[in-house]
Parts: sequence; structure tokens; C-alpha cells
Amino acid sequence: MQDAIPTTTFPTGKTVPVIGQGTWHMGERKASAADEAKSLRHGLDLGMTLIDTAEMYADGGAERVVAEAVKGRRGDAFIVSKVLPSNASRDGTVNACEASLKRLGTDHIDLYLLHWRGRYPLSETVEAFEALRQSGKIGAWGVSNFDPDDMEELFAVPNGGNVATNQVLYNLSRRGIEYDLLRDSQARGIPIMAYSPLDEGRLLRHPELIHIAKAHQATVAQVALAFLIRNPGVIVIPKTGMPERVRENRATVEIHLTDDDLAILDRAFPPPGRKTPLEMI
Ligand SMILES: NC(=O)c1ccc[n+]([C@@H]2O[C@H](COP(=O)([O-])OP(=O)(O)OC[C@H]3O[C@@H](n4cnc5c(N)ncnc54)[C@H](OP(=O)(O)O)[C@@H]3O)[C@@H](O)[C@H]2O)c1
Repeated sequence: MQDAIPTTTFPTGKTVPVIGQGTWHMGERKASAADEAKSLRHGLDLGMTLIDTAEMYADGGAERVVAEAVKGRRGDAFIVSKVLPSNASRDGTVNACEASLKRLGTDHIDLYLLHWRGRYPLSETVEAFEALRQSGKIGAWGVSNFDPDDMEELFAVPNGGNVATNQVLYNLSRRGIEYDLLRDSQARGIPIMAYSPLDEGRLLRHPELIHIAKAHQATVAQVALAFLIRNPGVIVIPKTGMPERVRENRATVEIHLTDDDLAILDRAFPPPGRKTPLEMI
């Protein structure tokens, strides 16, 4: 029996396991959609209940894969989706959410994010998010790709303090948020969702990671994920369409990095010594 996945709690009081599942590039090819849904369902069976998607992914195709994955078991999943900045006006946000709900085959999205900052004032998007929350179409709302200055601006708009998460690029190769954003978010009790936690697969060939993985009889993906989830309030959302890799990512909970491992990782992937612009993929 494997250890349970550790959890973190959003400011709304809702608790989720810190290893979830990404869906970028799912739904792009009809031939693979059924396998992708199966892989997500396997993750749900293993307790990886948070599924991250977006209206942008495969032009809604990824949300349709998620619909297939959660069919008949909506209650097992915590669905995160995102509105494109080009849709994030007061009315546009509501319309985009309703279109996502249709594609997802559900009556509510658990957490709805602004994918990145665009031309619409934050106050408009937040007003729409709050209306969606009041009507029960979303459980909570958050943002993505917001740097510390963006967060300060958000906190200054009416109800901006209701933000539940900030989803940002965070992995061993991209540690910039450790300088400020991560600490600020932890202090405010706002979980960070680390996207591209395997740096889109690029980390998997790194020699130091291979070395540490061997010492733990683990895989490189597990070491890379374990490094991130040892931080309180960090959720990882690795994407894979392969059930055996879902199992592998889930088993990250068995890996406990030592101080020596962390020192090696700090040498191979130096932590930020100063403020760096937030990177985006
Ligand atoms: N908010 C944003 O702006 C933003 C931006 C980027 C991503 N995201 C979200 O974050 C999720 C994750 O990021 P990502 O998809 O960019 O990259 P990622 O999760 O870092 O890496 C995905 C790649 O790693 C492979 N992989 C996954 N688990 C593996 C394992 N155990 N062993 C070997 N290879 C493995 C996958 O291949 P296979 O599928 O072939 O297994 C895929 O090629 C996305 O899917 C999306 O939901 C959000």
C-alpha cells in the first residue's frame, strides 16, 4: 500500500492532493483521445484528483478529453480550467466559462483561472469570477503567470484578495519564484500550482538527476517532482498520456530527498540569488 498523497488547502478551505494531472496537448489527435482519457482516469483511481486543463488546449479538445475521463465520476475529480486573456472581459469571461462547462460536460468548474494577463482590467475579470462563484458555476478562481507585482495589483482590486492560487512555471531548471513569489504565496496561504514540473520532459536527461534517482532506486521524474512538493503549498501537475507514467508520478510520494541530495541539486540547478523576471512557456 502506497503512502497517501500529501495535501494542501486553498483559502476557500478546499483540500487537494499535491500531485495532480496536466492535459496540455491532450485532445489534439482524435486517435489518442480515448487513451488520454483512460490515463487521466487511472490517475483518478490513484488519488490524483486534480486535473488541470484550459479552453486554449487543443481549442477545447483537452476539456473534451477531461469530460470523457470524469464521465460518471465527476465527484472524484477537482477540475481546474482557464479563460484566455482575450476572452477575459466581464461578459467574455462568463461566456468562456459556460462554453468550458459544456465541453467538460459538468455544471461546475472547481477552480477557474485567468491564463495570463491581457488587455482587460483585472477588476473586470475578477467581477466576472465573483459572479460565476455566486452562481455556483465555479467553486473558486485564481490566476496564472502572475509575477509578484501582478499579484500586488490583483490584491488592490475589489475582491482581488479572494484569489485561490497562482499557477506558474516552476521546476528545477526554473527556480526564479523561490526568490520571492513562492515565499509571498506561502505567507498568504495561497498555494502555487507548478506547471511544466518536468520542464516539458527536458529534465529527464539531466546527469545529476539520473545519479540521484539511481541512489533512491527511483526515476528522474520522481526526483524532479519530489523536489517541488517538499515545499509547503506547492501542487505539481505533470502531464502524461501513459498509465505507467501516471503510476510512476504518483509514486513520487515514496521518495524523500536527503540534505545531501538537495545540496547536489543546488549545485546543478542554482537557486536564484536575486529577483528574476517570471518565466513563461
Ligand atoms: N498555466 C500555463 O500557462 C501552463 C503552461 C504550461 C503547462 N501548463 C499545465 O501544466 C501541465 C504540465 O506541464 P507540461 O505538460 O508543459 O510539461 P511537463 O508535465 O513538465 O512534461 C510533460 C512531458 O513529460 C513527459 N512525462 C510525464 N511524466 C513522465 C514520466 N514519469 N516519465 C517520463 N516522461 C514523462 C510527457 O510525455 P508523455 O505524455 O508521452 O508521457 C510529456 O512529454 C500542462 O499539461 C498544463 O496542464 C500550464
